Amino acid sequence: MCQAPLHLATVQGVPVIALVNQKGGVGKTTATLGLASAAWARRVPCLVVDLDPQGNATTGLGVWDSATNVDAALAADRPGAARELAVLSSWQHDAGAAPRVMASTTALAARERQLLSDPVGAQDRLRLALSGCDGLVLIDCPPSLGLLTINALFAADKALVVTEPSAWASDGVSEIMGTIERVANRKPLGLQVAGVAVNRLARTRDSRYWHEQLVADHGALMLPPVRLRAAVAEAAARSLPIHALPPRKGASEACAEFDKIYDLVIGSDARATAGEE
Ligand SMILES: Nc1ncnc2c1ncn2[C@@H]1O[C@H](COP(=O)(O)OP(=O)(O)OP(=O)(O)O)[C@@H](O)[C@H]1O
Ligand SMILES: [Mg+2]
Repeated sequence: MCQAPLHLATVQGVPVIALVNQKGGVGKTTATLGLASAAWARRVPCLVVDLDPQGNATTGLGVWDSATNVDAALAADRPGAARELAVLSSWQHDAGAAPRVMASTTALAARERQLLSDPVGAQDRLRLALSGCDGLVLIDCPPSLGLLTINALFAADKALVVTEPSAWASDGVSEIMGTIERVANRKPLGLQVAGVAVNRLARTRDSRYWHEQLVADHGALMLPPVRLRAAVAEAAARSLPIHALPPRKGASEACAEFDKIYDLVIGSDARATAGEE
């Protein structure tokens, strides 16, 4: 059997990041696209893995009806399949490469059931597929703690928990922290928690209250928040990087928020690697 270079991305200092939360609609895809946009603006090579059968990250990157997809990479069960099966997104850039996408497909839902019957590779087919990838990798996870999310955590160097300031969000974050810890204990190189990003922070008393609960419970891990802004949803709906959205209310503020999270979670490592190329 071929020996894959384990975690080559880590060796080069550019992380593989899984964006996770078992709760739906909290902003995992939005944060994935926001960080991909921050990488795009810095001309850092980036691969987005869309592990959600809903395919919102794929369409947010302007890809429809891709001939290859992440399900084929999971099915291939061999090292480096991601490099062959990723496609170029439509986020053009004058001076840099557009991000690549391992596109979603509805077949992913059936793949999750099929993985259950694989005694060897149920948890780490994505890690195998990504071995040898040498840029920033962002994995957008589905809203569950099933085997697709577990594959993302086994493939990742860092887990970024995305949540929203709503009732019981803090309990949900604690639950996923437990899962991250269990995966970390099973990985020779561990799995770092990149932080907790609160998305869709509004200027209401309710929003502030639940945000304070999150800070009280997970203080050291809290990242700067992303506020509720129409520009954020608009960028995704128009399949544009938010950094390329025509000037409109809230766009530059949203860019600054994603840039801050990018600097804290990915930071200078990715810039250094991109600069070497
Ligand atoms: N900061 C924000 N401001 C305004 N709208 C937002 C913001 N973040 C997310 N949204 C909108 O909220 C909805 C849910 O966000 P998103 O799809 O990113 O969540 P998700 O966690 O990926 O959902 P799922 O679990 O279904 O995959 C989307 O319509 C998105 O455009
Ligand atoms: Mg999503």
